[in-house]
Amino acid sequence: MKKITLKGIAFLATVFIMTTIGTQSCNNSTSWTSDEEALINDAPDTKMRLWTIDNAEDSIFLRQPSQPLTQADIQQPIFELLKERMLLTVTDPENEGVGIAAPQVGIGRQVVAVQRFDKPGQPFEFYVNPRLTYLSDEKQKGWEGCLSVPNQRGEVLRSKQVVVTFNHPTTFELQCDTVEGFTAIIFQHETDHLSGTLYIDKAETLK
Ligand code: NI
Repeated sequence: MKKITLKGIAFLATVFIMTTIGTQSCNNSTSWTSDEEALINDAPDTKMRLWTIDNAEDSIFLRQPSQPLTQADIQQPIFELLKERMLLTVTDPENEGVGIAAPQVGIGRQVVAVQRFDKPGQPFEFYVNPRLTYLSDEKQKGWEGCLSVPNQRGEVLRSKQVVVTFNHPTTFELQCDTVEGFTAIIFQHETDHLSGTLYIDKAETLK
């Protein structure tokens, strides 16, 4: 065995401390699973299969809470591909929606796309790890549908105004936005998906 000098111990201690700090402040590992990567990569440049309550296995999956994404997760090419394919799915001219949540395409992650009817051009925007940190007591009743609940509509009572807090989909910066009206309804509907809740659970009337 080699004799360990005091200098050597100091050097090793420094390396250990730097490595520990390094892994804590700059965690570069991603949490995408091989199943998720396989599903997102299965057919690039096409819409994804919509998971619906008509299918027993899909229905169970849609009821599971989704997992958050890390900064490393959103820096992976797989996240860009997921966003592209979610957008193709929600804008499919044969089955259009105004919002979509990742679990609706079989990815149990906290990502939603919302059509911003309150912005010029009404763009779809993505939100990572979204939370509604304020819901107004003042409510409005409106008709909703869902890509995962085919051939049904229901009237749901929702807050008129919400504050959504989220990680920016490219910088991961924590941001918040105050949203009103129909767009606020979409945010409530889509964030419900991330906790496994469907609008039919809250609807006062269904048809
Ligand atoms: Ni929905």
